[in-house]
Amino acid sequence: MAAAPIGVFDSGYGGLTILKELKQELPQYDYIYLGDNARAPYGPRSYDTVYQYTLEAVNWFFKQGCSLVILACNTASAKALRTIQQKDLPKLAPDKRVLGVIRPTTEILGTLSSSQQVGILGTTGTIQSDSYPIELAKFFPHLQVFQQACPLWVPLIENGEHTQPGADYFVQLYLHQLFAQSNQIDTLLLACTHYPLLADKIKEHLPKGVKLVTQGGIVSKSLAKYLENHPAMAQQCSQQGKLQFYTTDNAQAFEKQASLFFGQKVEAKHTDLA
Ligand code: DGL
Repeated sequence: MAAAPIGVFDSGYGGLTILKELKQELPQYDYIYLGDNARAPYGPRSYDTVYQYTLEAVNWFFKQGCSLVILACNTASAKALRTIQQKDLPKLAPDKRVLGVIRPTTEILGTLSSSQQVGILGTTGTIQSDSYPIELAKFFPHLQVFQQACPLWVPLIENGEHTQPGADYFVQLYLHQLFAQSNQIDTLLLACTHYPLLADKIKEHLPKGVKLVTQGGIVSKSLAKYLENHPAMAQQCSQQGKLQFYTTDNAQAFEKQASLFFGQKVEAKHTDLA
């Protein structure tokens, strides 16, 4: 098998906040990013739909030759990853790997909290799946986990309203609902790859002393370790420092928005998944 880029997938733009950190941590690798913007957001969609869409995306990456695909989307990681890893991969491509963002995050989140109470903010899909409390319990059985879905944050961000004064209302609304569950939470995870764009506003409204955690750095360090421990897979990943961007929607619109999430200009192409 010829070496190929590492695939990075999100429902839309959010995964670019992860790719930005991957590029920083592992600049030598090639990456191919796919945003399923035509069908975003995934947050409110059913298990079956998120699984179906994510599987189509994974197959698309395999057609591009990728051996390693990162689901840089919590919703897809929560609702589709396990089935793809356990049911689809063994018959589809037993030598390829699909990894998500939840596992690496839960491996370390408990170490960041002194009160042993953490808050998780995510899409409705991620929160309803209970993936975070379930995974965290494996590593930190005594950790108390409080969750809050923030269904209006992704639309705010995707529509460029997240820096406007109206956004404060929706930031306060969900923070208030979370901290009403416990005022001992000292560590707050943004468990949606879109939310780092709201981080500054969230910090303005956070109770004193609460630590805000984003996933990019955690996921990229975890991938670096994974590649170190799996040299055969690392060899399947091409290393020329190249980036490619694809969207299932309009490429020009993608380019316009993408720089907000990625921090630099990108050139994108349209693709159909089928
Ligand atoms: N960025 C995705 C995540 O991390 C969700 C956005 C969406 O609802 O599509 O969950």
